[in-house]
Amino acid sequence: MKNNRRDFLRRASVAGTALMAGVGQSQANCPQFSRVSGQRFNMNGYAAPKLDTVRIGIIGVGSRGSGTLRRLAGIEGVDIKAICDIAPERVNESIKSIKKEFPQYDPQGYTRKDDWKRVCEREDIDLIYTATPWGLHTPIVVYAMENDKHAFTELPVGITIDDCWQVVETSERTKKHCYMEGSDCSDGISAVVLNLARNGFFGEVIHGEGAYIHDRVSDTQTRWVRDKQNNDWFGYRPWRLKENVNRNGNLYPIHGLGPVAQIMGINSGDSMDYLVSVSGDDFTMKHKMAELAEMDEYYKPYVGLDFRGNMNTTIIRTKLGKTIMLQHDISSPRPNVRFNMISGTKGMFCQYPYPAIAMGHDWMNAEEFDSLVKANKPEITKKFKDRVQTAEKVSKGRSYERVTASDWRLIDCLRNGLPLDKSVYDAALWSSITPLSEWSVDREGASVKVPDFTDNSWKTNKPGMDLSINEGGTTGLL
Ligand SMILES: NC(=O)c1ccc[n+]([C@@H]2O[C@H](COP(=O)([O-])OP(=O)(O)OC[C@H]3O[C@@H](n4cnc5c(N)ncnc54)[C@H](O)[C@@H]3O)[C@@H](O)[C@H]2O)c1
Repeated sequence: MKNNRRDFLRRASVAGTALMAGVGQSQANCPQFSRVSGQRFNMNGYAAPKLDTVRIGIIGVGSRGSGTLRRLAGIEGVDIKAICDIAPERVNESIKSIKKEFPQYDPQGYTRKDDWKRVCEREDIDLIYTATPWGLHTPIVVYAMENDKHAFTELPVGITIDDCWQVVETSERTKKHCYMEGSDCSDGISAVVLNLARNGFFGEVIHGEGAYIHDRVSDTQTRWVRDKQNNDWFGYRPWRLKENVNRNGNLYPIHGLGPVAQIMGINSGDSMDYLVSVSGDDFTMKHKMAELAEMDEYYKPYVGLDFRGNMNTTIIRTKLGKTIMLQHDISSPRPNVRFNMISGTKGMFCQYPYPAIAMGHDWMNAEEFDSLVKANKPEITKKFKDRVQTAEKVSKGRSYERVTASDWRLIDCLRNGLPLDKSVYDAALWSSITPLSEWSVDREGASVKVPDFTDNSWKTNKPGMDLSINEGGTTGLL
């Protein structure tokens, strides 16, 4: 095991040096493989001791975190103990609104830059949730696990390969879960497709496609206009804009990859082997920055910078000889695309522009498709819908539109002492696609090996995502 990791580092850097000649890119994103010890403990399928109440500390209550706070608060058996953000007004507003809607909670507010450490150190907290800018995710989840807390993070869990290994190693050593948010097969059409795939409907699944195609450039009024009075942004946050400068690759692979990886049994039955990644040029961001700079001087320093290319395409080959194609484009005027397609030896599913199945040359008609979907809704979907409907009746008017099956099941598994539907290996692997794709783009699409965060245990690991909810499912919504 030790040798494999060392060999990997050597091969990556030798290949990198050769390919760097004459190309002239920086080594900034070169994969670093610092882990040299073998797997300490297999976190796949790990069940932590059950928690009657899941006491939560929330770090980062910007646009995503404030919504998640409300979603988590609406699940039975949680307690919101702490809310932390460096923007005091966001902390105050979050505490006020959560206490108004859920008077049973009395969270303490934290507003200093390093206060997330204080929150992680508290002894009366079980789960730390983080929705901060990307660079803080690894430090926070690692510190949380070191302090005996389970970690729940927004995507990605890390921005370098080293980050990803550090998260895996910390989770194995502390036996604390690290669960990453992001699209998966816990609900909706992807749950049905996973169910069908597990029942062999598509034959052997041999190819999958996903994307994060999400137009962030059009629509100046809602995305780019600054609320100058409150020194805030209405849409796209400045830190996220900065992430798109001087970088090129798939910067947000997880939403597209998650369902594909679960359907293809990646980390449990198959493993990624290598990838290649190619980006085109930027054709829109530079024009957008020039246009915005005319309206708001804040954007002037961004004029003339080197932005991520519009479209990045990454192709992954698995150890069992299957393929995954991922795309990333946030700056072309197009409708959204996430989990898009899987193709098997008997048939295929395609999600966009509308969900459809084909078992040969012809698409299934709408009636057949609808009845197939209806007949294959998994238990997790039915149970979650039932929880939502019951809560809607009891609460008379509260909207559960934004509560997700994934949040609900995370809390349910922690309360019932069950393995989680996604493991720390999924979090690390899915996040690692970004630095690996950048490395490959830098080298004109050179192939790069994907680290096996499971240390070969993918061969025997049981798949997560218990669609039939054989255990648990006992948690309600408030
Ligand atoms: N799962 C999803 O569908 C989804 C959707 C949107 C965003 N996200 C993810 O959520 C995360 C946050 O994105 P966002 O759009 O909410 O950004 P945001 O800028 O609106 O929120 C980030 C918050 O972190 C706070 N913060 C920064 N440094 C901090 C520190 N040291 N301590 C405490 N708080 C700190 C900021 O003040 C801000 O309120 C990102 O990782 C993003 O990728 C996920």
